[in-house]
Amino acid sequence: MARSATVSQRRRSSTHESFLRHKGFLFLKVAVFVCVAAVAAYFFQHARPRPGGGTPLGYFLGTVGAGLIVWLALLGVRKRAVSSGHYSLKAWVSAHVYLGLSLIVIATLHTGFQFGWNVHTLAYGLMLLVIASGAIGVWAYVALPARLSENRGETTRKQMLAQIQSLDELIHEAAQGFPRDTAAIVRISLEQTDIGGGFWRRLFEDYRDCANLRALREIEAAQRTAGAHEAKALGEVAVLMRRKGDALGLARRQMHITALLEAWLFVHVPATFALLAALTVHIVSVFAYW
Ligand code: HEM
Ligand code: HEM
Repeated sequence: MARSATVSQRRRSSTHESFLRHKGFLFLKVAVFVCVAAVAAYFFQHARPRPGGGTPLGYFLGTVGAGLIVWLALLGVRKRAVSSGHYSLKAWVSAHVYLGLSLIVIATLHTGFQFGWNVHTLAYGLMLLVIASGAIGVWAYVALPARLSENRGETTRKQMLAQIQSLDELIHEAAQGFPRDTAAIVRISLEQTDIGGGFWRRLFEDYRDCANLRALREIEAAQRTAGAHEAKALGEVAVLMRRKGDALGLARRQMHITALLEAWLFVHVPATFALLAALTVHIVSVFAYW
């Protein structure tokens, strides 16, 4: 059993890594070649008065950079048109990652290392933000699937939720015959517990105000002042609530990792739109002031 889990885990993480290794690192090689060619051209040019966006090489690198950015942004459209033909999505993502990284060299050489507080440098900064968030995305795709299966073990998502539901039923049964005030505390756990919650809650895994935990604390407090018979009944409910807490912890961890898998896209995609806008202003303005 343990062996088959390891094999399936390895298979799963290799699928996620495969876009990096696609066709023997073909796009990494293409990107390195493009960068070396750009650096060589930069140092062999005779730019007067100094290298920058306005020189022939500057215009060339700027045009290649802008073309790449538009193409990289089209991945959003490509992702939604599923096909497994020659230009598979895996190839697109592989090229996206490596050619996207090569932009650091292409765009920096285009600027001739001239930066200032202007829209040109804003476009450059946004590009770096998109690239950095993309790198975090790659880390997430490579590292998190293994964490998801580690946390889940042999349990499926459906089983996790079913376990919480059956613990709720046991708590409900165990609390039959409780006086009105303690029954009200039990209802806090049964009716107000939020398994996942909103995106930010899942992302930061912040469940300090968990209703089940609050109810458990109050049941424990009531147990300390109750008589022997009542304390025993309260103790049974407390045990079930602790088990529910453990099951909730597992499900929430799973949702936290899934949220991490999406979080970087909340930077990557809006920053792409901002970059396209700033780049348009940059290009229009350099031609307007020409
Ligand atoms: C069709 C594409 C592009 C064209 C025609 C273009 C054109 C130019 C020109 C003419 C300059 C020199 C401006 C001057 O000397 O005052 C320049 C500078 C610059 N470009 Fe571009 N560019 C393009 C793409 C890009 C891209 C993709 C980026 C980065 C995201 C970028 C960032 C910059 C920066 C930061 C500067 C330096 C601004 C400064 O001197 O303060 N450009 N560009
Ligand atoms: C300026 C450069 C870049 C632009 C404009 C850009 C833009 C985009 C866009 C629009 C998407 C589609 C998002 C969606 O619709 O869900 C995307 C996905 C992605 N990007 Fe980028 N990106 C850039 C650079 C990078 C870099 C350098 C990396 C990695 C180091 C990267 C990694 C990714 C990954 C892993 C995806 C998700 C692919 C998938 O879901 O299969 N990006 N990017």
